Amino acid sequence: MCAIVGYTGYKPAIPILLDGLRSVEYKGYDSVGIYLPLSGPYKNVGKVEGLVDILPDNLVSTAGIAHIRWATHGVPSLENTHPLTDTNKNVWIVHNGMIENHDELRQELQEKGHIFTSETDSEILAHLIADEYEKCLKPHNAVAKALEKVVGTYGLAVMFSNLPDTIVIASMGNKMSIGIKDGEYIIASETAPMLRHTSNVVQLRDGEYAIVTPQGYTIYSFDHEKLSRKPKTIDIAKETALRKDVPHNMMKDILELPRVLENSARGRVIMQEGTARFGGLDEHMKELSELKRLIIVGCGSSYYAGLIGKLMLEDYVKIPVEVVYGSEFINRKVMEAQDGTIVLGLSQSGETPDIIDSLAIAKKAGIRTYGLVNVVGSTISKMVDTGMYNHAGPEQGVRSTKGYISQIEVLALMTLELARIRGLSKARGAEFIAEIKQLPDKVRTILKERRKIKKLAEEYLGYDDFLLIGRKYNIASAHEGALKLKKVSYVHAESFPAGEVKNGPIAMLNEIFPTIAIMPSDSVYDAMRKDVELIRERGGPILAITTEGNMDAYSFADDVIFIPDTRECFSPILANIPLQLFAYYSGALRGFSQDAPLRPSNVVTFDQDTDE
Ligand code: F6R
Repeated sequence: MCAIVGYTGYKPAIPILLDGLRSVEYKGYDSVGIYLPLSGPYKNVGKVEGLVDILPDNLVSTAGIAHIRWATHGVPSLENTHPLTDTNKNVWIVHNGMIENHDELRQELQEKGHIFTSETDSEILAHLIADEYEKCLKPHNAVAKALEKVVGTYGLAVMFSNLPDTIVIASMGNKMSIGIKDGEYIIASETAPMLRHTSNVVQLRDGEYAIVTPQGYTIYSFDHEKLSRKPKTIDIAKETALRKDVPHNMMKDILELPRVLENSARGRVIMQEGTARFGGLDEHMKELSELKRLIIVGCGSSYYAGLIGKLMLEDYVKIPVEVVYGSEFINRKVMEAQDGTIVLGLSQSGETPDIIDSLAIAKKAGIRTYGLVNVVGSTISKMVDTGMYNHAGPEQGVRSTKGYISQIEVLALMTLELARIRGLSKARGAEFIAEIKQLPDKVRTILKERRKIKKLAEEYLGYDDFLLIGRKYNIASAHEGALKLKKVSYVHAESFPAGEVKNGPIAMLNEIFPTIAIMPSDSVYDAMRKDVELIRERGGPILAITTEGNMDAYSFADDVIFIPDTRECFSPILANIPLQLFAYYSGALRGFSQDAPLRPSNVVTFDQDTDE
């Protein structure tokens, strides 16, 4: 999501930093900033080229740090754009990652007189380091001491206003590397900014920090032990080819899904309590414990994520949940405010007009409104009484991929929090969390097999119609899979609850009408099997998505995609990955560019607006 570039050496730093920033623009971002010692920070809410426009011509600096940001804590604004600093502007930082205990640390520092100027979790790092720097006057020691207090993840680069050519970097859960050239050091969170300058790279491991000057670099462990590490030679041709191998934003988004699942859950699960916690819900616990009826409003993929949320909330929290299309909520009779009712708007972009209108109607009727949105500072995030962010990072393809997966995960965590306050045991809560934590690796396993899904997409290329079916949790997977297939590959795809096929849709099926059956080995597997047997009689090919090890699937399916075993309510997360890939490859093989929809059908959000 965010990316860091730094330079210290003897050449003008600005062109190198700007070039580095341009090389990571593909990640998507909403703001960009640069710190040059002796001349200060320059920031732009918008693109790198906007930053170039405001940089004075006469700047001379042979060191600096720079950052692109996608807002997670705090809206995109100049105050929240990195580099961030401390009260006395002695320390400047750029940070990737998330500081989980920032609230506690902020309170402690405010009591000591520190003045905070941004809404970010990252700013805490500048203040903590400044506090330590005053005491020890050694830059790398100050960084190490400060980081001892931090719970969270970071790729971090720090400059000190009185040490114009020194950069201290640190890594925990987010990569940081040093590219080495004679008397020049390029610092970056990815390899792309280095590729033009050097192939000699040293990567920090988790729990390490380093001090870098034009004279050299020293790496330390967090136990302050000096480490010797030889640079590795990266294969520039291979790295460049790798970047080219992922030609579309949709594929980039899909490949980021494991990380998305990690980020959406980060700082929100408390294993020892067997529960989840959302900053935005903390002050509303009384209201949530008295919740009698939840109405989820969504459009497209967000509506389908809502269907999964409904089942989870009904299964674990045992409250009635209704899921309504935004475009239909607005057609219903204006509801009277009822105690214990909340309307939850689901929207990746936070800008979908039907959801905005629905929430406005609910507010007018005096009903409490909550939001689950991905884009910080979006219209919906501002209009609701409270809510949660997906923390999925920028959705770069115009289709909801990261948004959908993270919506399901956040709804699962919200379910857990509500279930715990209504009596779910700590032990059962902890089991729930343990399974959530395994999801990113399970998604990685599916992604590794993507070539097989590409082959299947090739095999099914000759078909013009598809039926997707599922039961219970995976009815939504069928709908979402069909939506993606239509939207990405422009083929006709129908979706039905599997048990409904016999009530009409079966009439359209024949040997040139394949069915994709989403049927993990769960409580509805046997019923699904009967549905599929019936469909088989129509002669069309069956592609089953089922749980690893379920060899039974070969007895009725022509092709099988396996997904790892998981709790029933999480299976839509895993089942959706092959469906996204199948839609992606089906579109790509038909010659459609996933980045340029033939007929744009989403609200284009501000980040996508500027996506060339
Ligand atoms: C499908 C898709 C759309 C959106 C819908 C709602 O892949 O991208 O169907 O899900 O337009 O958008 P948000 O979630 O931004 O409100």
